[in-house]
Amino acid sequence: MYNITLIPGDGVGPEVTEALLYIIEMMDIDLDYTLAYAGDACYKETGTTIPDETLSKAKKADATLFGSVTTVPGHKSAIITLRKELDLYANLRPVKTYHGVGCLFDDLDFIIVRENTEGLYSGIEEYTKEGATALRVITRSASERICRFAFKHAEKTGRNKVTAVHKANVLKKTDGIFRESFYKIADEYPDLGTDEKYVDAAAMFLITRPQDFEVIVTTNLFGDILSDEGAGLVGGLGMVPSANIGDNNALFEPVHGSAPDIAGLGISNPSAMILSTVMMMDYLGETYEARKLENALLDVLSEGKVLTPDLGGSSKTMEMAQEIRDKLRIN
Ligand code: NAI
Ligand code: MG
Repeated sequence: MYNITLIPGDGVGPEVTEALLYIIEMMDIDLDYTLAYAGDACYKETGTTIPDETLSKAKKADATLFGSVTTVPGHKSAIITLRKELDLYANLRPVKTYHGVGCLFDDLDFIIVRENTEGLYSGIEEYTKEGATALRVITRSASERICRFAFKHAEKTGRNKVTAVHKANVLKKTDGIFRESFYKIADEYPDLGTDEKYVDAAAMFLITRPQDFEVIVTTNLFGDILSDEGAGLVGGLGMVPSANIGDNNALFEPVHGSAPDIAGLGISNPSAMILSTVMMMDYLGETYEARKLENALLDVLSEGKVLTPDLGGSSKTMEMAQEIRDKLRIN
């Protein structure tokens, strides 16, 4: 049995969580859920966006599943606090084409490995006389750790090349250290190729030649932006999952936010949440169940009959969930 801390959050978070639970009820995997709170509704109720209780539940769990939260301006970001407190230093964001989803390309399969604990998201900002400043913290230890993670991941998943994305021509010291760390770690993996791109050029190549990428390793903010761009290549934010991995804990979440423009309408795409759970099952070593869940979703996507509006269909979230659940029963 696995202890899973479940944080549905706000907006579409609880909707895609409900869909997910309805589907995996059917599966042969013993998940024991502990519900925990974070985000805007939690703030209104408790005065904090991320209670200590949620953090300690997430620390104790075998894995945490996180829906999405609405940001409360001026207050701690729940997800960034979780990443930091649990030291979930590697944010893995696969960008993969699925048959039946209207994509710009039909043969993409690369992964963005984003440093998750520092960079421009260090959270160190201060007001000055003129305005405000934000501190972009880059350490050798965090840079080497994320680069090693990326190379290891490349090796494990049979990739040939790791591309570092940075802006060392302008951010000479901070990204200089990131770049040096990348090549230092690359020496430990002589069988893997290396490449590097400035982030602005990388943003363009993601549109013009995305097939060239296999594994991208980059700093926090660049990874955040490029992974939404990646989502745009493969059918939108409703399709892209993520894993936040540390040495002792892991948290899985869709890349999307709380989508207030469609929240409450029951039309959010549950795929990103389902694929995040597939990543969680793989992390837990439940690869058979992971493939089963993934294949049920892929069948529904490629049949194209029961899809949410963002995928060009006209079905509700729970109708798509029902269809996926039915596929599990057949397979
Ligand atoms: P968003 O990801 O919530 O939405 C962007 C666009 O994608 C919207 O048009 C939305 O309808 C669509 N979309 C997102 N998820 C979808 C799904 N499952 N199915 C169909 N369409 C979907 O980003 P936005 O609007 O910038 O942020 C909304 C709120 O979420 C803000 O408060 C933001 O701070 C927060 N946020 C939270 C994140 C998290 O919890 N990890 C990540 C990103 C944003
Ligand atoms: Mg983002």
